Amino acid sequence: MLSGKDRRRTIRIKRSSLLECKLGDLDRPAIKIAETLEEYTGAFSLVHDEYVRSGYTSPHPSRLLFNAWSMLPQTAVFVFKSFHEVLSSVTYIPDTADFGLPIDAVFKDKIDELRKSGPVVEVGALVTQRRRRWSNMMVFLAKALLKYAQVTGAANLVVMVNPKHVRFYTSLFMFKPFAEERFYEKVGAPAVALRICMKDIESELKAAYAEEAFETDLHHFFLKAAGTLPENIPSQASPDDLKKKRPIDPYSAYYLLRRRPDVLDSLTEKQRAVFENYYHQALFSLPGGVGAFDPERTTGNILEKLKLDRFDAYTDTAFCRNLGLLTYDEQRKLLDSRVAVAGLGGVGGEHLVTLARTGFGKFTIAEFDEFSPVNVNRQYGATVSAFGRAKLDVMLEYAMGVNPFLDIRKFPSGISEENLDDFLDGVDVVVDGIDFFAFDIRCALFMRAYKKGIPVITAGPMGYSCALLVFMPGGMDFIKYFDIRDDMDMQEKLLRFALGLAPRALHVRYLDRRFVDMRERRGPSLDIACRVCAGMATTEAVRLVLGKKGVRAVPEYTQFDPFTGKYHRGKLKKGLASFPQKLKLRLARAVFTPPPPEGAAVPATPAVCKPLQPVPRSVMEYIVRAGVQAPSGDNSQPWRFRIGDRRIELFADRERDTSFFNVAQAATLISCGAVLENMRYAAGAAGLETELTLLPDGEGADRVGVAEFEPVGMPLYELAESSMWRRCTTRLMFKKKPVPQAVWQRLDRMVAGEAMLSWVTDRGLMKGLAAAVYKADRARVERRDLHEYLMEHIRFGPHEGPHGDGLPLKNLQAGVAGELFMKFTQPWRVMRLLNILGAGRMVPLHGRQSVIASGGLGMISIAAATEEQYLRAGAVFNRLWCALEYMGYGLQPLAALPLLNLRLRLEGESRFDPQHVVLLREADRTARAAFGIPEGALPLMMFRTGESRRVRYRTFRRDVASMLV
Ligand SMILES: Cc1cc2nc3c(=O)[nH]c(=O)nc-3n(C[C@H](O)[C@H](O)[C@H](O)COP(=O)(O)O)c2cc1C
Repeated sequence: MLSGKDRRRTIRIKRSSLLECKLGDLDRPAIKIAETLEEYTGAFSLVHDEYVRSGYTSPHPSRLLFNAWSMLPQTAVFVFKSFHEVLSSVTYIPDTADFGLPIDAVFKDKIDELRKSGPVVEVGALVTQRRRRWSNMMVFLAKALLKYAQVTGAANLVVMVNPKHVRFYTSLFMFKPFAEERFYEKVGAPAVALRICMKDIESELKAAYAEEAFETDLHHFFLKAAGTLPENIPSQASPDDLKKKRPIDPYSAYYLLRRRPDVLDSLTEKQRAVFENYYHQALFSLPGGVGAFDPERTTGNILEKLKLDRFDAYTDTAFCRNLGLLTYDEQRKLLDSRVAVAGLGGVGGEHLVTLARTGFGKFTIAEFDEFSPVNVNRQYGATVSAFGRAKLDVMLEYAMGVNPFLDIRKFPSGISEENLDDFLDGVDVVVDGIDFFAFDIRCALFMRAYKKGIPVITAGPMGYSCALLVFMPGGMDFIKYFDIRDDMDMQEKLLRFALGLAPRALHVRYLDRRFVDMRERRGPSLDIACRVCAGMATTEAVRLVLGKKGVRAVPEYTQFDPFTGKYHRGKLKKGLASFPQKLKLRLARAVFTPPPPEGAAVPATPAVCKPLQPVPRSVMEYIVRAGVQAPSGDNSQPWRFRIGDRRIELFADRERDTSFFNVAQAATLISCGAVLENMRYAAGAAGLETELTLLPDGEGADRVGVAEFEPVGMPLYELAESSMWRRCTTRLMFKKKPVPQAVWQRLDRMVAGEAMLSWVTDRGLMKGLAAAVYKADRARVERRDLHEYLMEHIRFGPHEGPHGDGLPLKNLQAGVAGELFMKFTQPWRVMRLLNILGAGRMVPLHGRQSVIASGGLGMISIAAATEEQYLRAGAVFNRLWCALEYMGYGLQPLAALPLLNLRLRLEGESRFDPQHVVLLREADRTARAAFGIPEGALPLMMFRTGESRRVRYRTFRRDVASMLV
């Protein structure tokens, strides 16, 4: 037993931490009064789960627990939620003439007494997610509730609780017992009635807490401190506004009552009448009534009711507004025509729906893929509920929703050489919706259709525009128009396709070429263009099927660009085989398909791992390959891996990076943190969730991380996943255009408390920082150990690849003169002589120049020099770097300034030349001031970033096999 004094202490200690709301990892936390179905079901399912867990009730199949009071318009269900999840909730039930209060079931006599002194409000269903108990949400909810009670004029707040919870309410919230313990029949347990008298609460809180320190002063917290009313209650609302009845919206009410009709069971007739008044629509829709929300609203039922359950009746009505643009006879002809739509992604999905709305009645559709979040920007069927669903199924639903009488033939595995004949069987016209990069199957389809005498329409979204070609039987065929030969590689074929589609290339002038890469099969695409395409392609389909004039078949072409406002039609008599087109091709080749960057090749993303099945070894190796892609000081790759069945252990190779920069293994651990981050992205792409344990054997041990993987059956998207393979150190000069604040703010949110990010884009401050970088770089080039280490790691020879590590000379982007300078200064004695003569400063001067030629500078800082913080900072650094790459920015680390200063701080001045100590201290002061880094924090990694060209020469990686233990 605790003594009275001890007990007070524990309560005080708890209270002191109660006022801190620990919301670190919550996405957009908010306190609200529930108003959406998601909020109601979130709160009621939390109540259900917690009450079941505590044994107060047995589980219900709906997993929802609420009563009629919860739905009364006067009631307010308070929720503490993250973006879309309710984490804690409490219900506020004002007394009403018809319903009274739930507490009346046990303490009616006592409540009646209280009623005499003003409005009584019952508080109930206090719940917090079990795993969030520590985060004190309830205290914040209580504060909002108290304020709401004050504003709405409650006289007494009452609560009925199990005797074992009494202390929680009385000691923290100043509830007082006002009736003796009684037995609550319905629950089968004893109950105590507690209350807060609103007129006394202020003085009671004051008396109890006035002496307390600020952080434990609940009086101040509850009644004085700001941020009280729930988010969706306007602060200027009058008490009358607040007391306005807010019934749950009809659909939500229907949804709730449909799942828990028993809520209505115990209502008196009078109460049911009141309920019907509020929720007539919902009650009307429940089984027994036929209302708007009847789940039996099948297509058949609806059409039957509307008397449109016959083909003629439906199509006459649904397409009546086409008349005037199409004759009745033409409409019938469209309904009887078959269009083959190959591919249902960006353009294909839009084509299908537009064709169906125009009244085409028969389709043959092919698509093998599933919808995923990256399709959302442009693909018709890509919505949250469609993620992971077959595109074919989803689009079929849309099309059948437009016209339930469609005759649709399906090819759920897509098209291939083998099924082309079948696919084209009975087809009047083909509309191309194939992925831009799937060239070979497109070519095969077009040629087969040509042979069979079927016209093919292709409408390609290019920028904001649509580029349209129509291939007619007897006209010029696909291979001839694009001038394709078998021996051409895929890049060349794709380039020809792009150029032949839009020879005038109206879109190229506004296209950011950094985001186009034929080799990586990457290019931007807009829904706007897909919609223009659907309109243009369907127009041609109408023309073709109805034999209308105006079809301009290949070699004629059309491009319409709503952005530039240009419409261009032209003709390439010889297709791409003519001289001017060949010239254009040559130019486009140089711009869009430069030779591949030298360096490590990118492996193909593996298939998604299925839950409960073993993770193939090839996937584990893919994950390690991704890890190895991480940056490391001078490309030293100081790591090793052990691959298990579903886990990968990462070991720091502490002997590998012997650079003077690698103070306390900080550089090695930064790299290892980056490795773990890359592994997580790669695992996500393969449908694996990663659980990471850092330093399982403590600081100083080689095993620095263990990643355990759990297949979830869906790829987990990280924007970094696509960019981690492209990420590389960019030592080129960048554009000076400032990297926008929105970019920095997004990066800052990615840091997620694992380190601290500061940034500078102000030109004046950047100049100061350039001078600081110059000083730190001087300390670098004037040290023999650092100079020799770097020279050892530069690969001067022409065959840098086989080493698999170090820095290929060209990768340093030093230009011809710089490369000569580096070759010449390889021996320390030469460099030393140049340093004495002052010529050695050319290197730091170049560094200074490059800092000025940037769009911004960033600094990652940590709170303490621990191995865990180095690892986390490394992960953060890699995350930001990949994100910048994704957004089109280059990055170069500038490690000398922070890492040399870290060594100075950790090991003192003895390891440095006194002159360098002065330079480093000055550089540190400038950096701290410019970045606004607090005194206690340790700057760890600096970088420059900005818009940049792509790097041509990249680093290599050692063989994965040599890194396994
Ligand atoms: C801790 C650390 C410090 C680094 N310091 C510098 C630096 O000061 N200057 C620089 O140009 N690159 C620096 N780099 C980049 C590495 O040289 C680069 O990551 C490595 O050569 C691999 O090449 P990649 O980043 O192009 O894949 C650093 C990287 C790490 C992880």
